[in-house]
Amino acid sequence: ISLKKYNTFGINANAKRFIEINSVPELKEILEQEKDVFLIGGGSNMLLTSDIEKLVIHLNLKGIIINDLNNDNVLVTAEAGENWHDFVIWCISQNYGGIENLSLIPGNVGTSPIQNIGAYGVEIKDTFHQLEAIEIATGNKSVFNKDDCNFGYRNSVFKNELKGKYIITNVTFKLTKKNHKTNISYGAIKEVLKNIKKPTLKDISDAIIAIRQSKLPDPEEIGNSGSFFKNPVIDIDLFKKIQKKYSNIPNYVISSTEIKVPAGWLIEQCGFKGKRFGETGVHEKQALVLVNYGNATGKEVFKLAKKIQQTVLEKFAIPLEIEVNVI
Ligand code: EPU
Repeated sequence: ISLKKYNTFGINANAKRFIEINSVPELKEILEQEKDVFLIGGGSNMLLTSDIEKLVIHLNLKGIIINDLNNDNVLVTAEAGENWHDFVIWCISQNYGGIENLSLIPGNVGTSPIQNIGAYGVEIKDTFHQLEAIEIATGNKSVFNKDDCNFGYRNSVFKNELKGKYIITNVTFKLTKKNHKTNISYGAIKEVLKNIKKPTLKDISDAIIAIRQSKLPDPEEIGNSGSFFKNPVIDIDLFKKIQKKYSNIPNYVISSTEIKVPAGWLIEQCGFKGKRFGETGVHEKQALVLVNYGNATGKEVFKLAKKIQQTVLEKFAIPLEIEVNVI
């Protein structure tokens, strides 16, 4: 079958064998017969550059369970197949705080810990409590707490040592019921909320939705995988050298020796922003996002990514790391 509607890039790669899984016992049963599997959840962080020979498993586990912890906090467990944004909106409707800044991020709950999704000053690790996963080799269930996951910027143990070894079946978040510790430090949010004295979770979510919609393409309309590259962390000496020539380079200080610069800015300086190359291109409002105008192949998008990496390297001596999982 075609995987076009199972990946937000809208790449028309095929799966030879495809199965939809609706429960954990069903998943275990399949893993007893077959270990060499390819998992697809929300399909929001992958670029398919060829057909998939392995058995493709679409994880469709649904459900949300609430466990009251105390007066202030609640533990909320969502099954892997819940849509991330719908989950965020549901939490806000219950007045559970902590993930409102992560509104409108494409993908499913089950894949959110893999890259420690983050936006507008908040990362999943800030409210993450634990997750359950099935080990592919044995079919056994494991529980991972926060330390086990080794979260970093767009990173976790599931992108490194344990890559391809586990299937995440549910994720539990520790959220607030009152006295929410909201984060509106991000410049653009502050600007949108400037006339609201005490913004509610919904106010913050609405502001973020508006900001995202103003610069990020909707995958339903134009295929994409969000930020295609990570924002590089560079040496302060290199930064100072670049700053001499480009005094307006945006930056976030990481430590006394390292500084993070927005990849979108670097790509824009190289002249790629809004450029179309056949069926693929660089989004006109956010240069960090590569898009599929309809019929791009994964190979075409990958070729453009390589060209961008090479140009940025030549111009700024900065290697850009691809964030999206290239298959
Ligand atoms: N910029 C440019 N040109 C561009 C894009 C950005 O000059 O085409 C500059 C902006 O002027 C701004 C700076 O870069 O000063 C930062 O831009 P933005 O606020 O859009 O954030 P970002 O660093 O490009 C990161 C995340 C996004 C997340 C936003 C907001 C990564 C790889 N990306 O982007 O995540 O929404 O911050 O927190 O860290 C995603 O992962 O799919 C994603 C959208």
